[in-house]
Formats: sequence, C-alpha cells, structure tokens
Amino acid sequence: MPKDVIIALDFSSRIETIDFLDLFRPTGAKPFVKIGMELFYAEGPAIVRAIKARDYKIFLDLKLHDIPNTVKKAMAALCGLGADMCNVHTAGTAEMMRAALSGVTRSDGTRPLVIGVTQLTSTSEARMQSELLIGASMPETVLHYAKNAASAGLDGVVCSPHEAAQVKSVCSAGFVTVTPGIRLAGDAVGDQVRVTTPALARETGTDYIVVGRSITAAADPVAAYQRCVLDFIG
Ligand code: C5P
Repeated sequence: MPKDVIIALDFSSRIETIDFLDLFRPTGAKPFVKIGMELFYAEGPAIVRAIKARDYKIFLDLKLHDIPNTVKKAMAALCGLGADMCNVHTAGTAEMMRAALSGVTRSDGTRPLVIGVTQLTSTSEARMQSELLIGASMPETVLHYAKNAASAGLDGVVCSPHEAAQVKSVCSAGFVTVTPGIRLAGDAVGDQVRVTTPALARETGTDYIVVGRSITAAADPVAAYQRCVLDFIG
C-alpha cells in the first residue's frame, strides 16, 4: 500500500481551489487531494471532473449514510466522476456498506477504494458516550466498526492515528487506514480532538494522513505539504 499525504481541499469555491493547486505547479508535485462537503456542495460534480482532468488522485469525502438502496445509487453516481477513494459511515450498518460496494462498478473493471468512517476525529470519548449513548471506549468502538467494515468487504476505514495500528492488527495489514486529525507541531487544533503530528502518525503504520488546515492555512502551503511528506514518508 503506497503511503501518501492527502490534502483536504476545504475551500468554498473553484477559484480558491485552483489557485491553491497552482501553488504546487513549480514543484511538479501532484498531491493526492480530498474533496469534502464544503467544496462539493458549493461547486457540484464539475469540480471533481475538473480536478480529475488535471490528473490528481481524488478522495471524495462525502461520508454517505442513508438507506442501502440510496447509498448504492449515490455511490454509482460518485464512482462515475472518477474518484479514487469514496467513503460511507460504518454506522450505516453492514447492509449499507455492502450496498455501497455494489454501487461502485465501472465498465473498465476499476473502482474507487471504499472506506468507512468510524468515529470522527472531532468526537471525544466523553461526547460519544454521553451524547451518542455508546457505552464502550473509543478504541473498542472504532475497532468494532472497523471489523464490521472489513467483514462487509470495505477496503479500509477512516480513524484517528491513535487507533490505526490496532485496526490493522485486528483487521489485516492490507486493510487501509486513512487518518485525519493531523497537525504540524505548534498549529492550532481547532475543532479536532484526537490529533497527532505526521511524524507520530508514521509510527502507527497508517497508510494515508489527511491534512487540511495545517497545509491550507499555512503561510507557505507548499513548504507545509513538503514537511508533512518528509515527516510521514521520509
Ligand atoms: O483542517 P483539518 O486537518 O482538521 O481537516 C481534516 C479534514 O478531514 C476535514 O476535511 C474533515 O472533514 C476530514 N475528516 C475528519 N475526520 C474524519 C473524516 C474526515 O476530520 N473522520
């Protein structure tokens, strides 16, 4: 599994997004990028096609969670946009995850990786227990969700770096882990709770780190990206 740094393109317009990507032109780098709800809802499917046409790998982070039939059909539509990775909430049940997988077939035989969101990295164990009434600990909950995702046939999960190593040990080494909640040392944590640095994430054996504000809000985003790559991949 190739390790990579995925930049969260959390922008609200196409212009801002393309201007940001153009910063990387002089370096020749084509970072793996993530399109989430903010950009997708602002610009629609056209933004995915536009970035794909520029030859970027795309994680389409729309976190689907609905009845199985709706998720299957939504995944088929997203798959047609050419995304390399899509995701659903594992809380939608194994039946919904299997439906998601059945939606992602392409005529050329390729398909995006389908990843399950476990517990958001902005959710603390205390809030999960008091507001969601999940009595188990955060690691137990994430591992249980990851096992459900693996048995439903998903390719991997989104989890915090704190859980990535254990997810791999209970699922399999090849089960993909995607870990947001990453901050370069000294950066503001913001709304995230379960955070770590790229260097510490590397030690967990996770496959992908997702970095938003530590790169997009940096004074020099290209330097911040290069720092993440160096610390995470070497
Ligand atoms: O700016 P920051 O690095 O916190 O951005 C993290 C990105 O990863 C955001 O786009 C957020 O939606 C996404 N994400 C997350 N936790 C998850 C799944 C996705 O933070 N469980």
